[in-house]
Amino acid sequence: MLELKNITLEKEGKKILNKINLRLEENKFYVMTGPNGGGKSSLAKVIMGIETPTEGQVYWNKEEISQKSVDVRSRMGIGFSFQQPVKFRGIKIKRLLELASENKKIRGCGVLRQVGLCPREYLEREVDASLSGGELKRIEIATVLLQKPKLAIFDEPEAGIDLWSFKNLIEVFRDLQKNYAGTILVISHQEKIIEIADEILLVKSGKIKKIEKNKIVNLVINRKLNCREGCK
Ligand SMILES: Nc1ncnc2c1ncn2[C@@H]1O[C@H](COP(=O)(O)OP(=O)(O)O)[C@@H](O)[C@H]1O
Ligand SMILES: [Mg+2]
Repeated sequence: MLELKNITLEKEGKKILNKINLRLEENKFYVMTGPNGGGKSSLAKVIMGIETPTEGQVYWNKEEISQKSVDVRSRMGIGFSFQQPVKFRGIKIKRLLELASENKKIRGCGVLRQVGLCPREYLEREVDASLSGGELKRIEIATVLLQKPKLAIFDEPEAGIDLWSFKNLIEVFRDLQKNYAGTILVISHQEKIIEIADEILLVKSGKIKKIEKNKIVNLVINRKLNCREGCK
């Protein structure tokens, strides 16, 4: 469905992504993990069209989309939610969901239930600081689901939420893993999310590889700080 061929991304002379090849298939649940600064968010941005690769091509159902904009890709079925969500302040959740679905008749009930929020309690509330991090995160996931993307990308959905909300979030992803009609790519460091992956992708120093679930534990334990220079 989605294919990356030989993707390299350079920034300020540094290779952030280095000759990445990847193929994502339909209706699979992928988890991308790896150390901070390894290139996960950059790779997601290349898929979404926020970053243009220095070299290589992106294909969507065999059509090359390397030069297509974020909007065009979104209409083609690539949807995403950011690690640092844009907060729409001062509008009701109901309205936010309508905007996401581009459909004024949407009632938002089904999708709120899907992310574990009771519609009666949330539809009329405003998107503001009174919502907890976990609630905001779930609403943000709901806005992605409403777009019904063929490929939904979530960059560290667990970021900034507490352990209790996180437990609920895992349930949301478990449900998506089983029932979502499309492919999901989640960037995450969380064991509980990695556990439910159909495939795990490890991104490290701008390279990618698929790994077996039982090997991930060793990778975490064996991680060393790769830093040779001392402080001056
Ligand atoms: N705009 C940029 N300019 C220079 N370096 C960048 C830029 N964006 C990201 N990087 C660098 O690219 C590397 C990969 O970043 P990122 O993709 O955010 O990693 P991850 O999501 O795996 O933590 C990091 O070393 C980061 O500092
Ligand atoms: Mg990141």
